[in-house]
Amino acid sequence: MVRYQYLPSAVKQYQCKIIVEIGVLRCKRARRMIEAALTFSSPEYIFYYGFDLFELWNSSVAIKEQSTQAPLSQAKAQTVLTNLTGANITMVKGDSKKTVSKFAAHFGKYADLIFIDGGHSVPTIASDWKSVQPIVGLNTLVFFDDYYINPHGRFKNKGCKTLIDSLSQSAFAVEVLPQCDLFKGDDPNDVTEDHLVKVRKR
Ligand SMILES: C[S@@+](CC[C@H](N)C(=O)[O-])C[C@H]1O[C@@H](n2cnc3c(N)ncnc32)[C@H](O)[C@@H]1O
Repeated sequence: MVRYQYLPSAVKQYQCKIIVEIGVLRCKRARRMIEAALTFSSPEYIFYYGFDLFELWNSSVAIKEQSTQAPLSQAKAQTVLTNLTGANITMVKGDSKKTVSKFAAHFGKYADLIFIDGGHSVPTIASDWKSVQPIVGLNTLVFFDDYYINPHGRFKNKGCKTLIDSLSQSAFAVEVLPQCDLFKGDDPNDVTEDHLVKVRKR
């Protein structure tokens, strides 16, 4: 997936050491981001916070949140990332609509990078964005996955486009990143573009 190249690149470019990811799944992106941070920092200074349903994921969530792959268990995700990277790993289990706001309200500092890639329904993405606000500072990079252009089939009415297009241009610098992945539908003309979006406070 070409669009994900932006995440490790941003970690390196901006020297991100406090990384928050909503939607851990199987730790693929988490690993890439932490490995990028390990190129300029030793592991004890890197802090990763991952939010997922983990064992609470089920088939009805899969449909509602367009989240069809089962995530690892919380313990497995914790062990895998800790053993692979040696960084400080915290995994939080539960619906991000509840867990993230509680965490952000008490965190007491700003994240360097936040990747919002949990549930794909419009209300969940809006909630995740609202929940992270206390940990978004002027230097925080927020990435959203799944800005669909020309959405067809299962992509219709999903993803972050509704939220992103509603953001105030004077309050936020929004960049729809150019390298995207393409998903073809049954009709050859039905091609959905899937982009990552970068948002910073102005
Ligand atoms: C697309 S996957 C994340 C992929 C991961 N960011 C990566 O790139 O490797 C979405 C994840 O979000 C989780 N998820 C879906 N809805 C959620 C919710 N309401 N609260 C917490 N996690 C949720 C799913 O369990 C799934 O693991």
